[in-house]
Amino acid sequence: MLWKTGLIFLCWGLTSGELQDRQSGTPAAPARTTLDFGLVPSGVYDTVAYYEPGAIGILFNMMHAFLYVVQPNPFPEDLVIRVAKDKFGAIQSEYQKVIYYELGFVVCAALGLLFTVLLPLVGLLFCLCRCCDNCGGEMHQRQRKNADCLRGLLTTLLLTTTFIITAGVLCAYAANQNLSSQLKSMRRLVKSNLKDLHTFANQTPAQIDYLISKYDTVKQHVLHDLENVGVILGGRIHEELGKDVQPALNGVLSMTGTMRDTKDALENVSLSLETLQEGTVKLQANLSLVRGSLSNALNDPVCTHPQSFEICHNIRSTLPKLEIAANYSSLTDVTNQLDKVNEVLKTDLGQIVEKGFASFNDTPNLVTDQTRNIVEGVKVLLDDVGSNVTTFTKLFPVHSTLTNFTKMISHTHSQIEDIYPQVDQMDFYRWICCITLCCMVVLILTFNFLGLLCGILGFDRHATPTTRGCVSNTGGNLLMAGVGFSFLFSWVLMGVITALFLAGGNLEKLVCEPFQTRQLFKVLDTPNLANSAWKNFIPGYLYNDPELDLTAYSLYSNCKDNRGIYSALHLDKVFNISAFFNTSVYSKDVSRKFEGMKVDLRGIILLESEGKQNLISFTETGINEIDFAAYLEEVNKGVTRIDLVDFASRLDAQADQLSKGTLQTSLKGHANTIRQIHIQQVIPLEKSMKYVKARSTLNQSIRLLERTSSDLPVRVRDVLAAVDAAQYLISHNATFVINQETEKYKQTIIGYFKQYIDWIRTSLALEVATCKPLSNIVDTAEILGCSFLLDSMNTFWFGLGCSTLFLLPSIILSVKLAKFYRRMDTEDVYDDSSVSGTWHFTL
Ligand SMILES: *[C@@H]1O[C@H](CO)[C@@H](O)[C@H](O)[C@H]1NC(C)=O
Ligand SMILES: *[C@@H]1O[C@H](CO)[C@@H](O)[C@H](O)[C@H]1NC(C)=O
Ligand SMILES: *[C@@H]1O[C@H](CO)[C@@H](O)[C@H](O)[C@H]1NC(C)=O
Ligand SMILES: *[C@@H]1O[C@H](CO)[C@@H](O)[C@H](O)[C@H]1NC(C)=O
Ligand SMILES: *[C@@H]1O[C@H](CO)[C@@H](O)[C@H](O)[C@H]1NC(C)=O
Ligand SMILES: *[C@@H]1O[C@H](CO)[C@@H](O)[C@H](O)[C@H]1NC(C)=O
Ligand SMILES: *[C@@H]1O[C@H](CO)[C@@H](O)[C@H](O)[C@H]1NC(C)=O
Ligand SMILES: *[C@@H]1O[C@H](CO)[C@@H](O)[C@H](O)[C@H]1NC(C)=O
Ligand SMILES: *[C@@H]1O[C@H](CO)[C@@H](O)[C@H](O)[C@H]1NC(C)=O
Repeated sequence: MLWKTGLIFLCWGLTSGELQDRQSGTPAAPARTTLDFGLVPSGVYDTVAYYEPGAIGILFNMMHAFLYVVQPNPFPEDLVIRVAKDKFGAIQSEYQKVIYYELGFVVCAALGLLFTVLLPLVGLLFCLCRCCDNCGGEMHQRQRKNADCLRGLLTTLLLTTTFIITAGVLCAYAANQNLSSQLKSMRRLVKSNLKDLHTFANQTPAQIDYLISKYDTVKQHVLHDLENVGVILGGRIHEELGKDVQPALNGVLSMTGTMRDTKDALENVSLSLETLQEGTVKLQANLSLVRGSLSNALNDPVCTHPQSFEICHNIRSTLPKLEIAANYSSLTDVTNQLDKVNEVLKTDLGQIVEKGFASFNDTPNLVTDQTRNIVEGVKVLLDDVGSNVTTFTKLFPVHSTLTNFTKMISHTHSQIEDIYPQVDQMDFYRWICCITLCCMVVLILTFNFLGLLCGILGFDRHATPTTRGCVSNTGGNLLMAGVGFSFLFSWVLMGVITALFLAGGNLEKLVCEPFQTRQLFKVLDTPNLANSAWKNFIPGYLYNDPELDLTAYSLYSNCKDNRGIYSALHLDKVFNISAFFNTSVYSKDVSRKFEGMKVDLRGIILLESEGKQNLISFTETGINEIDFAAYLEEVNKGVTRIDLVDFASRLDAQADQLSKGTLQTSLKGHANTIRQIHIQQVIPLEKSMKYVKARSTLNQSIRLLERTSSDLPVRVRDVLAAVDAAQYLISHNATFVINQETEKYKQTIIGYFKQYIDWIRTSLALEVATCKPLSNIVDTAEILGCSFLLDSMNTFWFGLGCSTLFLLPSIILSVKLAKFYRRMDTEDVYDDSSVSGTWHFTL
């Protein structure tokens, strides 16, 4: 009763720290942070419930081997269960099986009984028989030729037998001493077990306090997340919306680049066009001069001459080709467009975009401002839960129950201490009894040894049976005394041994061995064994719920694995406080706090209307009206339509065909002028850095402008559409994103509670109030009962039994040998012819 009350109190104390969550099946977003609750302070248990018998283990093993020979059957689980269930009533119906199982024991016990009963009877008859001078009682010995040989043989055999008996006695003595000496180990074991129970009781409140104190970790994390709601929640909303907003604003930003590039290109076109125009206009002027002058010169009368007419005509016909090829003056300039672009660029679009970005990046602050109430609410909830967690432990008097438990242990301890003197006394009596039994055998052994000693020492080769010496005669008498004591004691010994054998052997076979193979637990855990109304005894006894799956074996093995007593004893059955620490309640509370949450991002303006107008104006600058084809055509033309050097050479050659005169001179002069123009103006236009660069710049810029103007309307439209979409998302459709991110944020916070409760549950199952001491108590009982007591006891009867059995041959050999030692009254007259062919057994 004391134990039951103690256990129930213990359960109270333990469960008071329990937090439970049976709702953990609902999937939640995995918490980003794994909380570290550290290690639960653990008690160190001292008991080592293990026993190594040492040298005497050899004797134990011999005894076990003997028991195995006597009873090799495996543990009869079914039979034991049936017998136990029927309160031994089943023995009547199952006696055949019982006897079959016990056959070895029955046979041995029967032999032992036979021995016990017959030996005194035989002893009596033998005594009477000898008194009537029969059975070797007559002091006469027939002489035989082989007497010496027979005597030697008998001596040897008796000596051997005596040694065997000695060994048996020593074995019994050792077992006896072992049992006494194990008393000290027993005290040590009991003490360390009680100390472990103390540790268990002392450590548990600290462990529970540790569990409770770790709520601070949860609190810190939740507070951290609440205080950084802007960064965490706002940041995530920002990131999520940013997937649309960033590209849109970046699109606008890239348009400012395009504007600047367009302006540059227009300027480049303007400048290089001027440069090229300047150069070509000058060249054109000089070429016109030469052309006019040549035309004048060809009006010379020599040309009318039929000989020269052809030549003059040829020259005149080539004159129109003396002209520039690329006519940059024919191109319309881009000043108009440039002005308009400059007008557009007066608005700083980049800055407007920056403002948009800044407004958008302010999301975390917006979130922080708009969730202030909710954050406060959750903080209050956090403190609520915290005070619930701490006050709840106070509802159950953990400390006082454990103090009571400790008191109970101390009480038990002192009770145990009190019975030690009695135990010692009992052990002393037991020791005396055992030693007395040993002494009986030792007495017989003494007579045997002394008899043998005297017989051997007093042997005289020449003495006849009637002339044997006094020493030899004493030896024979001593042997006979030994025989007498053997008859007196051996039946007592055998009786005691049979009783011990039956008890010890069966206990070993039915309790100790099945305990080691754990089969005993199967018997104990048989449903409805102890109480036919209860399926399982332990939960039925503790909780009045016999259906609970709590068996002796599960309890024992859980405790042996050093699990927490909460899970080992299924204490949740009695103190199920899931209702108090229900995560779904926390989830609901937290969710309710978040219910009113509204984050409104309508204040964010990505692109002000000025910026949009600016973009539209940019499409209206008219760069698409530029005649790109004309530009490119002119750029790709050469400087002059014909090669001037070529022209000059041909002019020279034609002049040579004319007769000498003013015309020829004039033509040659013009040819030189043309060469001059080529050197002074065409070559620079073709080769000098200034014009080459101007042309290539013009080429590139025009091409760039052409590209830009072709996709400009589409790009601006797309950029504006993207900005509008992003703006719409923020202003009207952010709820989806916000809700989604808020849910994740909420789940993170709930996840902290969940982690805490999960941790508490695993800690309770594995680390708090680990119940190794309970399994140690069972193991200790096994060591005390089986290894200390039973093994010693079994070895005692084993040794003594061996000795007692060998008393039989010892008696026979002693009687026969005594005949050779004692001095006879009469003797045969030595007769060589009488051959003793009829040696008969005389007892
Ligand atoms: C315009 O001219 C400048 C200087 O010559 C040059 O660096 C730039 O690349 C040109 N721009 C274009 C669009 O050709
Ligand atoms: C070049 O173009 C201008 C303007 O179109 C024109 O007046 C002039 O005659 C042209 N010159 C040549 C050589 O074609
Ligand atoms: C705290 O405990 C009280 C009483 O048990 C309960 O009404 C309340 O809901 C609990 N608070 C929380 C946050 O669980
Ligand atoms: C502890 O023992 C005292 C006195 O024996 C008793 O009054 C008290 O109720 C016990 N405490 C618990 C929690 O059972
Ligand atoms: C503890 O309570 C919860 C719900 O209140 C229940 O699901 C669970 O089975 C209970 N545990 C025991 C051992 O009764
Ligand atoms: C937890 O609370 C919910 C709702 O309040 C309830 O339905 C559920 O049964 C509770 N669970 C436990 C184990 O008490
Ligand atoms: C081109 O004409 C200019 C004046 O119009 C004159 O100064 C220059 O010498 C001429 N160049 C040649 C090579 O005739
Ligand atoms: C103009 O540019 C194009 C492409 O860059 C090139 O193929 C072409 O040769 C250039 N023309 C001149 C006159 O530089
Ligand atoms: C709002 O956003 C959600 C998710 O991005 C999208 O499925 C829904 O079509 C959007 N609604 C509108 C009107 O744009």
